[in-house]
Amino acid sequence: MIIYLESPRTFFLQGADSTYAMAVHPAGYLCHLHWGGKLHPDAALAELCRQEGLPFSPRQPLPGLGKVALDVLAYEYPTANTGDFLTPAVDVVHADGTRGLRLLYRGHRITPGKPLLPGLPATYVETDDEASTLEIDLQDTVSGIQVTLSYTVFAGRNVIARSARITNRGPLPCTVTRALSAALPFSGREFDFIHLPGAWARERWVERHPLHSGTQSICSRRGASSHQHNPFFALAATGADEANGEVYGFSLVYSGNHFGGAEVDQQFNTRAFMGIMPEGFAWKLAPTESFQTPEVVFAWSDAGLTGLSHQYHRLYRERLVRGYWRDRDRPILINNWEATYFDFTTEKLLKLAGAAKPLGIELFVLDDGWFGSRNSSDSSLGDWFPHSARLPDGLAPLAKSINEQGLLFGLWLEPEMVSPDSRLYRDHPDWCLHIAGRDRTEGRNQLVLDFSRPEVVEAIYERIADILKDAPISYVKWDMNRHLTEVASAGRRPERQGETAHRYMLGVYAFMERLVQAFPHVLFEGCAGGGGRYDPGILHYMPQVWCSDNSDAISRLRIQHGTSLVYPPCTMGAHVSDVPNHQIGRVTPLDTRGHVALAGQFGLEMDVTKSSPETLTGLTGLVELARQTRDLLRHGDHYRLVSPFSGNHAAWMLVSPGGDEALVVFVLELAEPNRVLPRLRLRGLDSAARYRCIHGPEGEWFGDQLMCIGLSVPLKHDFASLAWHLRKVSGPSPT
Ligand code: DGJ
Repeated sequence: MIIYLESPRTFFLQGADSTYAMAVHPAGYLCHLHWGGKLHPDAALAELCRQEGLPFSPRQPLPGLGKVALDVLAYEYPTANTGDFLTPAVDVVHADGTRGLRLLYRGHRITPGKPLLPGLPATYVETDDEASTLEIDLQDTVSGIQVTLSYTVFAGRNVIARSARITNRGPLPCTVTRALSAALPFSGREFDFIHLPGAWARERWVERHPLHSGTQSICSRRGASSHQHNPFFALAATGADEANGEVYGFSLVYSGNHFGGAEVDQQFNTRAFMGIMPEGFAWKLAPTESFQTPEVVFAWSDAGLTGLSHQYHRLYRERLVRGYWRDRDRPILINNWEATYFDFTTEKLLKLAGAAKPLGIELFVLDDGWFGSRNSSDSSLGDWFPHSARLPDGLAPLAKSINEQGLLFGLWLEPEMVSPDSRLYRDHPDWCLHIAGRDRTEGRNQLVLDFSRPEVVEAIYERIADILKDAPISYVKWDMNRHLTEVASAGRRPERQGETAHRYMLGVYAFMERLVQAFPHVLFEGCAGGGGRYDPGILHYMPQVWCSDNSDAISRLRIQHGTSLVYPPCTMGAHVSDVPNHQIGRVTPLDTRGHVALAGQFGLEMDVTKSSPETLTGLTGLVELARQTRDLLRHGDHYRLVSPFSGNHAAWMLVSPGGDEALVVFVLELAEPNRVLPRLRLRGLDSAARYRCIHGPEGEWFGDQLMCIGLSVPLKHDFASLAWHLRKVSGPSPT
């Protein structure tokens, strides 16, 4: 998978249909040659890294090489203040206060498999033949600082996982002020920048615009990957669409502050980059110490956005998500949040569980409000002891009663937070992030615990582990309902305060790792005020994430469509809720709410003790359909058929790997008078096979008919929908 040619030094990383190539410039710089369609390894390509200088180019005089122009090289890992003027990947302040690195090739290693990234989430392999890893050492001769670039290429995929490790091999301390995971140069700027901005209840909408000169970027300064900018962007060749054209993806396996983008230079060439947000970041490296960046996963496809999504979906569900639940159908749940909010008693919960069971529900989740004296969002985070009025006998008896009703029991937690009105805060007022002498800014009446301090992580871990040991808890919803402000730690010396935001994430990851190792059978669902921390970092610990607090079916079309660009449908929590919808007041038909929720891990978020008999019958059918299609959800390839961003309706489908089964969903937003909707053309089916609709509008068609002519969609009312569950059939041809 990785080929090295010695003269001149050239590297070829061979993916399924793609090649990533680099060469060492005669001056020692590691330069990029190509990423895209597959190439035969040929050392002559190294010529590409020699570039003519431009007026105003800084030039390095080198014996035998003349003067090498430095602002035109296609650097793999560009530095600051030594001749390149674009966005650097790394910057360091030396002991004498000066900045600058000149990174030159020193050596490399090629090893089978993929090493772990200590303390960080990452993609992985199960056997060494699944991937090969190339590590290239670059060094600055003046300071001794070494950068080791890591590239993993996976067999049968078109993805490259990249990260960097910065080691101080010099005699003096230094401070790393920027340590991106990777940069990547492109010839030309004929690309669209696609990214997933949003807000609470409006996460991951798709935006696309042509690259322009200068920098276009995404970032988070919130201490979480955030609702506002997902740590993902793509560069799509101009004209590339869902099914055609070259697309490059950049997805950071990290849940904290991030920064990614593309800079178009004076020659209209492009440099893409991604990593931890440099603002506010300063990491001290004493001699021999190292800093490891998170991993960024590059994906490439020449089959448009669908091809790109399939690369990410397959890798993330197979080799990012881990553990017991990775390859198992997840239970269909009911969550009491929208049914009761804080207004519940044990009796009310048992009644809700009792009404849910006959619908086919398998897991009952007790959300916020079960602990301390929490009757609203004003208090008690950190006091993880059962609420004395609501759960007078504790959690275990409730969990057991739910189990006796035939349901698993799940629990909501928000371990990273503390309420100022809590016993924990009164006992340890310095355990939150804060700056002495400044106001402690609250968000949802709460403060953020200082998870950059191991003693804080340890204390909260002990409490949470006891809860999971003491009651039969099969599922945890891990919430995080505010962003980080006054990022500073009472446990850290002044010169190391710039490490706090990243050390916070390392503390969170250490906590999560310990928890998933200690409780391997618990299903964890990530959440951060809905989808505020829906990123690959979280997926390494939690195989699913609550996609958004907005449970309105029509809003969800956009949210889920954007999410599906990177994240596999089986990672998306998607629930049916009551109408009028609690977030935006919209009334949609039950079937539409159900069909939209089939795009992810299906559940209910409603008071089924008050539902009408017709609603209960409808719910029973939808739960059954979710059960019948959840295997498809876990393995199937997802196709976005009609974008909710481009018109008045939306459609998507899932197809099983062999094309034997498919689920298709179409949703109309606002009906128009006298309008016949266009036929819905499907994708990914076996063209020669016949398919029968086993749930939904009756019919039997050949795969080619479904893909070339399509299904008719006789919908006439606002918010109406159709779902087709198709199965391959054998036997006589359809008439
Ligand atoms: C925010 C979550 O996204 C909701 O689903 C719910 O769990 C609330 N927090 C509880 O406070």
